[in-house]
Amino acid sequence: MSFPVERPRRLRRTEGLRGLVRETRLSTAGLIYPMFVCPGTKIRKEVSSMPGIYQQSADQIVEECRELEVLGIPGIILFGLPETKDAQGASSVAADGVVPRAIEAIRKAKLNLVVITDVCLCEYTDHGHCGVIENGEIANDPTLAILAEQALAHARAGADMVAPSDMMDGRVAAIRATLDGNHFENTPIMSYAAKYCSGFYGPFREAAQSAPQFGDRRSYQMDPGNSREALKEVALDIAEGADMVMVKPAMPYLDVVRMVRDRFDVPLAAYNVSGEYSMVKAAAQSNWIEEKRVVLEILTGIHRAGAGIILTYHAKDAARWLKS
Ligand code: PBG
Repeated sequence: MSFPVERPRRLRRTEGLRGLVRETRLSTAGLIYPMFVCPGTKIRKEVSSMPGIYQQSADQIVEECRELEVLGIPGIILFGLPETKDAQGASSVAADGVVPRAIEAIRKAKLNLVVITDVCLCEYTDHGHCGVIENGEIANDPTLAILAEQALAHARAGADMVAPSDMMDGRVAAIRATLDGNHFENTPIMSYAAKYCSGFYGPFREAAQSAPQFGDRRSYQMDPGNSREALKEVALDIAEGADMVMVKPAMPYLDVVRMVRDRFDVPLAAYNVSGEYSMVKAAAQSNWIEEKRVVLEILTGIHRAGAGIILTYHAKDAARWLKS
């Protein structure tokens, strides 16, 4: 049967009908807000390429977390801007490091937020790579112990979940073993399992002061042309003990989000990254697009592709728009 008996427009006639038959319903309950914490107090410095996003000291992070709680945003992911950097990323494992301090401050404020921490070396190394360097290459295995120590420092400070983003092989197993060996068997791991080597991280590297000082990340992050390899990465991370997995960036990789959703039965997150955010902000500032409409459409698309959890710098705006 087809036209004139079939008329798909019948169910589009009123907002009431459209709302009733809508297949994807975006909700604030799946949003995670990324935050950048720096040392000091009363510091709140806007990232020039990311309007509305700040590098902040722990006290200011707590203030913004209060806003998030009121907006109904369930959680945050923390990135640290340490006081000192060196070749080994030593400041990343310190118990009194910038991220552990921020977690403690959030805990002290008794906020009802899931606190996730990004686990990686690039913000803490003077060369800006996600692993230690040996013979001019990013060395995999020597990096694992540092990542595991960093994850343990975050767990000890009270993190609800750790999220390794370095793309070293075997990091999930190494982190799981160290957490379990130190009575943190209940701390879950969300792995950035399929993380692509992407130009869309540009603004983040300003925000996190983590641009590589030489070369690029192609020897450890994934090639944008690959999707079968993403399934392999996800399978390996789940086998190593990842509780949740992530695809990153989101918009250019929605096919990968869908493939992972169809193939695996763990919660799936997608990271709507800095460049995706900055492009929308810039176009909206020029009045080339309608920001609210475009942001909600992007988040709906990511959700429709299969990501139940979305890490996004738009979280606060989206929460406000979804409320009204
Ligand atoms: C660190 C890390 C990056 C992002 C999250 N964790 C940057 C990178 O790999 O260069 C990107 C997030 C964003 O662009 O919003 N390994």
